[in-house]
Amino acid sequence: MNVTCVVGARPNFVKIAPIMAELAKRGTDRRLVHTGQHYDFEMSASFFADLDLPKPDADLGIGSGTHAVQTGTAMMGLEKEFQQNTPDVVVVVGDVNSTLAAALAAVKLHIKVAHVEAGYRSGDFSMPEEVNRLVVDQISQLLFAPTPDAVENLAKEGVAGEHVVFVGNVMAETLLRNLHKVKARANYAELGLTAGEYALATIHRAENTDDECRLRAICEGFHYSSVPIVWPLHPRAKKKLEEFKLIDDLATRVKLTEPMAYLDLLNVMANARLVLTDSGGVQEESCMLGVPCLTLRDNTERRLTVDIGANRLVPIDRREIIAAVERIKNGKYPAWRAPEKWDIEVSSRIVDALSLLTARA
Ligand code: UD1
Repeated sequence: MNVTCVVGARPNFVKIAPIMAELAKRGTDRRLVHTGQHYDFEMSASFFADLDLPKPDADLGIGSGTHAVQTGTAMMGLEKEFQQNTPDVVVVVGDVNSTLAAALAAVKLHIKVAHVEAGYRSGDFSMPEEVNRLVVDQISQLLFAPTPDAVENLAKEGVAGEHVVFVGNVMAETLLRNLHKVKARANYAELGLTAGEYALATIHRAENTDDECRLRAICEGFHYSSVPIVWPLHPRAKKKLEEFKLIDDLATRVKLTEPMAYLDLLNVMANARLVLTDSGGVQEESCMLGVPCLTLRDNTERRLTVDIGANRLVPIDRREIIAAVERIKNGKYPAWRAPEKWDIEVSSRIVDALSLLTARA
């Protein structure tokens, strides 16, 4: 079996790491291709170092751009890459533009596509990630679902059968495999924070950052929160906070930092009282770490984290944000257990199914 794994953006690196390691363990012929969607050191290279990922065999250097430019440029580079190296199967992870580009480029060359994190649905078509998820799941030959509700979502869209496999959450595996390193750090203390007495915020999604009203409401909610907040700024969030002239006022109350490397962020998350986020992966990581999460969105594709009580959706409204933080500060949240198959065997289940797929072909 000859497998090409494609990554492009920060959350992809976290998801591909255990799969690359499992392929290596089994001596499988593998290639790692980076589209270059994320290119800053903190957004990309630091993750390769933290996660022991090999240097990519190819880096297409596509960089930023509109959705069409980013997806189209990645497709052109990936088409060449797949033609030259003719993989049996292309593994794509998550829901970013690079995921969509890789799946489209591969399927049009009649190369099998395996989608890791298949079946998540927010029901919100205004999110670019939702469009990417829908398309990728329709054109993939092998669908690896992280949760039972993801399997149900696929079935509702007519995607069912033995090519849909409930493998669990690969992001959880990466976290569990790195937990000893996370615990050995003290990044939160280096930032002057006290364990259990602060909130970690990560807000970067276009629907929150690019809408001035929503971003202002979030900033006001953070400003008046009774719990100190640390917010590592994604480049998009920083740009918009500056453009809307919100950053100076915010910085008087909220500790704003550069984007954090993977292990640093997890250390700050593990020691936080709560998490405020609009990211997908952070909803899952906080769930694994036992830290309550408030998701500042109208919907989530990570429904299971809400169902088990680890996560709550909070409307983008200053008073709602302040009240939700207060409730957690006062201990008003349930205890929960890690979901089924969010363990260290996820990559092993994935590679087992990949081997079956290629053996059948
Ligand atoms: C992408 C994903 C999103 C994911 C996020 C994780 C899509 C549609 N979205 O969003 O699902 O949660 O990654 O971070 O693929 N930039 C830099 N340096 C970088 C990368 C980006 O400065 O290394 C800036 C650029 O100005 C760019 C902007 O950030 O225009 C947004 O980057 P882009 O890759 O388009 O999307 P993200 O917001 O990062």
